[in-house]
Amino acid sequence: MVEISEAKLEDQEDLVEVLVPVFSDKALALLGDAEKAAILLPHILKAVEGITLLARENEKAVGAILVSVEPIKLPSEISTIMKKELGYFKALRAFRLMRDYERSLPKRKEKEALLEAVGVVEGFRGKGIGTELINRAEDWLVMQNIKHFGLSVKTSNPAVRLYSRLGFEKVSTFQNKLGHWIYMQKTLGSRS
Ligand SMILES: CC(C)(COP(=O)(O)OP(=O)(O)OC[C@H]1O[C@@H](n2cnc3c(N)ncnc32)[C@H](O)[C@@H]1OP(=O)(O)O)[C@@H](O)C(=O)NCCC(=O)NCCS
Repeated sequence: MVEISEAKLEDQEDLVEVLVPVFSDKALALLGDAEKAAILLPHILKAVEGITLLARENEKAVGAILVSVEPIKLPSEISTIMKKELGYFKALRAFRLMRDYERSLPKRKEKEALLEAVGVVEGFRGKGIGTELINRAEDWLVMQNIKHFGLSVKTSNPAVRLYSRLGFEKVSTFQNKLGHWIYMQKTLGSRS
């Protein structure tokens, strides 16, 4: 039986455990070192204004979703932490990639939430946990009177089909140094 609840400060370790392996390819492309994502993720989680939900099955963390309602402002010390953890050149490369990514993103609408990340642990996929996490995040956004829910997903990611099934529509495509992306959006309150 899967239980979904809002992640608290003490759930940080579980969030890292779920999200870091799920996004190891992305972390490798961005940071040049997938393992360091575990050190940086807590700082990103703290900076997100929005909602973070965690799915557990028999106490084991099996999925998570991170949704922002405001652009993420990373704390100023992140630059020092990244230089310390990655070394100067990898940190500089990561900052350039992030800036390039942000500049390529479609403009965020007023009252638009963004799906920053959703991940389900391998072995637990295809059982509806991802769908439930997105639906629960949506319920929260509707309560906050948020009108639009957007996301960017690599064109090659099979999750595009899941998002379409949940009512997200393709708005545009864009590309940057990390690859080719689809920007999808859903007007909230329209779930059938
Ligand atoms: C995308 C993801 C969160 C879906 O979670 P899930 O619990 O498997 O989702 P559900 O069971 O609710 O729905 C399954 C759908 O997810 C999609 N999906 C994507 N990758 C999948 C995988 N490895 N296994 C099963 N389904 C996958 C399929 O389109 C499937 O749709 P279908 O039922 O029409 O075939 C999960 O596959 C995952 O963690 N993927 C890696 C991380 C990622 O790419 N996240 C999205 C980008 S931010």
